[in-house]
Amino acid sequence: MRKQIIVGNWKMFKTNSQAVEFVKNVDSQLGSNENLIAGIAAPAVMLSDMTKVAKNLVVAAENCYFEKEGAFTGEISIPMLQDINVSYVVIGHSERRDIFGETDEMINAKVKALLAANMTPILCCGESLEIYEAGTTMDHVKKQLSDDLNGVSAEDMTKVVIAYEPIWAIGTGKVATPEIAQEVCKGIRDHIASLYSQDVADQVLIQYGGSVKPDNIKDILGQSDIDGALVGGASLVEESYLGLVK
Ligand code: PGA
Repeated sequence: MRKQIIVGNWKMFKTNSQAVEFVKNVDSQLGSNENLIAGIAAPAVMLSDMTKVAKNLVVAAENCYFEKEGAFTGEISIPMLQDINVSYVVIGHSERRDIFGETDEMINAKVKALLAANMTPILCCGESLEIYEAGTTMDHVKKQLSDDLNGVSAEDMTKVVIAYEPIWAIGTGKVATPEIAQEVCKGIRDHIASLYSQDVADQVLIQYGGSVKPDNIKDILGQSDIDGALVGGASLVEESYLGLVK
């Protein structure tokens, strides 16, 4: 039995004090559930204070750099995250790829650096509307994953979380139907089986992301190859976040 993993992705929203207040309020209402990883990915400046008040919630970073240290102005290293007890990092979100020019090569280096540090990458993949309409979603996602996971061992692969996020469904209110999401997530699992083995593929947690809300999450999580969700907008309000994870 795979666990479920539901992670909010706050993007560039909230201040440190708002984040701490949110975590205090939500964490106390969560309780521990060993079958569910409930997390929030937040901007780097607020992670340290969030981890101090989180007991049940997992605090994740939205990005990191792959070098340990050096002349990389503005970047956040893995040792910096480890020092404040952050062990999950969202990697290769479509906004990082499209707005900040992250390539599969960079994303691959980040995934490998995180695994070497015993941390958990939440590796995002997904197609644009153009690719979706051309019917080549699976080819695109398979290529992203092959490139992003290049050189990752079978043992490490079981620790990677994959987030399938069709770009046309992010922040648009256009959620992929549970059937479409399931079809692609199943395709992703089959692809991992072909790159590694069925045993490895069966252990990997795969999330769906893109306009997930409290009122549609149940149908999405009901799909056999979907183990959780990566949620932007609906994770920003306490009540709505609780509606996702409860
Ligand atoms: P959304 O964002 O839930 O607001 O569509 C999802 C994401 O970008 O991870």
